[in-house]
Amino acid sequence: MAGFGDHAGDIYNLEVRPDDIWVVSFSRSGTTWLQELVWLIANNLDYEGAATTPLTKRYAFIEYPTQTSEIRKEQPPSVNSNHRATFDDFRNLHNLTSPRFVKTHLPLSLLPPKLLDTAKVLYIARDPRDVAVSFHFMHKLFRYFDEGVTFEEFWDLFKKDLLLHLPIFPHIEEAWAKRDHKNMMFLFYEEMQKNLQSVIDKVSKFFGKDYTTEQKEKLAEYLSFENMKKSSGFKFGKSENKDSEITFMRKGKSGNWINYFNTDKMKKEAEEYFEKHMKNTDLRFPEIN
Ligand code: A3P
Repeated sequence: MAGFGDHAGDIYNLEVRPDDIWVVSFSRSGTTWLQELVWLIANNLDYEGAATTPLTKRYAFIEYPTQTSEIRKEQPPSVNSNHRATFDDFRNLHNLTSPRFVKTHLPLSLLPPKLLDTAKVLYIARDPRDVAVSFHFMHKLFRYFDEGVTFEEFWDLFKKDLLLHLPIFPHIEEAWAKRDHKNMMFLFYEEMQKNLQSVIDKVSKFFGKDYTTEQKEKLAEYLSFENMKKSSGFKFGKSENKDSEITFMRKGKSGNWINYFNTDKMKKEAEEYFEKHMKNTDLRFPEIN
């Protein structure tokens, strides 16, 4: 299995089914959070199923094997076999029974062109400055980079789009442009943080589900950062590392990037980077407190 380029066509030409459910995002934007929310809403709040089968088995992560060969040949020791990043991918997607749950970090333009007209797509966007920080710790957690790489060094590559998955702005803007499509649910990480209940409402409607207030409150509790951090599926990291931030469920905050851009030069760069990309788009991230 070589890199993504060798399989871009296989992925672009995947057959999409009308009852497919796709969760699309740039990495570290709250994908896992949205995956859990979507799966539970679509599966009549089957908490037992969620507790017994890891998300990585409930969703096919389609492009995953096209990345591993390029970057690392084996799972890092912090990831045991129960924590494989996925069990299904583009190679066996056609064999899975419906409804299929699909996760991808690819932008819409690299996905099957009929995707949105055929299946339900949920996209989650997050302030790229928070993504940059979270992505930095993920690079250490999964041993893409040495632990010694500073955030300043990482940011230097991020802002120049020289890392895996980048550029991020066009990724978000492509989905934003489709936000009014009847099969698209465009969400912000910041929105989930501010008002998870309203996101639960929106997604329930999207799936034609009618849950009681009590059921929705229970779901919001289940999806809290503290609860998800506790649950076994997301525990990997941390114990292997001295740095407590090198863990999958790291901080779960919005606007926290400010604490990592800790020189005047970095702060100025972050501001300029954000402004430059926001200038020519009507995309706006929700205000955070
Ligand atoms: P941080 O590193 O900023 O803490 P993804 O699943 O796309 O890789 O995104 C991971 C980010 O989402 C991490 O951000 C993680 O902590 C955050 N996250 C996951 N579950 C969450 C939850 N229930 N509430 C808030 N943030 C959550």
